[in-house]
Amino acid sequence: EKAGHKHFMAKEIHEQPQTVADVLAVFLDGDRVVPPTAYDFAATDRIQMVACGTGFIACMVAKYWFEALARLPVEVDIASEYRYREGPIGPDTSALFLSQSGETADTLAALRYAKGQARAILSIVNVPESSIARESDVTWPITAGVEVGVASTKAFVNQLVILLALAIHAGVQRGQIDAAREAELVAGLRRLPGLLSLALAIEDDCIALTHRLAEATDILFLGRGPMYPLAHEGALKLKEISYIHAEAYASGELKHGPIALVDRSLPVVVFAPTDALFDKTVSNMQEVMAREGQVLLVTDAAGAEQASEGVWDVLVMPTVEPIFAPILYALPAQLLAYHTAVHKGTDVDQPRNLAKSVTVE
Ligand code: F6R
Repeated sequence: EKAGHKHFMAKEIHEQPQTVADVLAVFLDGDRVVPPTAYDFAATDRIQMVACGTGFIACMVAKYWFEALARLPVEVDIASEYRYREGPIGPDTSALFLSQSGETADTLAALRYAKGQARAILSIVNVPESSIARESDVTWPITAGVEVGVASTKAFVNQLVILLALAIHAGVQRGQIDAAREAELVAGLRRLPGLLSLALAIEDDCIALTHRLAEATDILFLGRGPMYPLAHEGALKLKEISYIHAEAYASGELKHGPIALVDRSLPVVVFAPTDALFDKTVSNMQEVMAREGQVLLVTDAAGAEQASEGVWDVLVMPTVEPIFAPILYALPAQLLAYHTAVHKGTDVDQPRNLAKSVTVE
């Protein structure tokens, strides 16, 4: 049942080219995004996204996409904060709840709080018959299949794919994206399964790094723009399954505190595809290296060419248009955590103290 893999998590990581192809088949039609359930994003002023854990991180990425592609403001909250804060929700705000299980207690309570106040209750869930799906006005299926590993992988990546597809769709509805650009973006989405397969080739390089990572007591993850949430995903996965303390920071925030942590014992993973912010991230990375921090640069061929000098190591990813990079860079976040945990011999699929579905508050 693990299809020849040592753990369900490994199987689920390797399934991603297929699960992404599956979800694209549900959300795309020819060269257009056609969500399986309609929603008019032109009739809403704002989206309030709410989730926990990995789902919250997917929402953080989605904020960049909706704001850039659809000029639609997005607020993102952790469910356990959102539900008790009882903030105002305007009638033109749409509330979107993300959950793999569809049963997370805090997310469900947040949904019930928003009901009757928000313009509509939207959800993205992997279990179609779950409570969150049933209590939504509009629900979109993650179609990742059953996810067994406690640490979410394929459900996270499919959440990202759906959020990007919806952001493109919202951009079209709101007059921000014309038919030609939509076709281009859809072609980019259709290239993702192939690119994910290609990117899995970094696995051997990840294995080679785990010896060093497994020795560390702390690891810092850095990124800018949509790579900042990816830094959070890398840190969350690592903490969950390898029990190594990890923290994520927005690269530009480093000098406001965490740079005090940097010394030669600190591995610093930097997610930096060549995009508009690349040079800024590289200059933050150099600040780390000047203090003897051990930088692992995750970038593409052009980035590696430009910025490898003095780093501890480089993981070279396939080149991709920046808007799609978060989906591809989920793989190194997952693989570094997975192989570090395997190296340490922890229980990868059932990490201590964690449950797959958190139905307590
Ligand atoms: C991390 C992880 C958890 C879940 C969180 C929310 O790898 O899996 O952080 O993302 O417990 O669960 P769902 O998505 O079922 O609401």
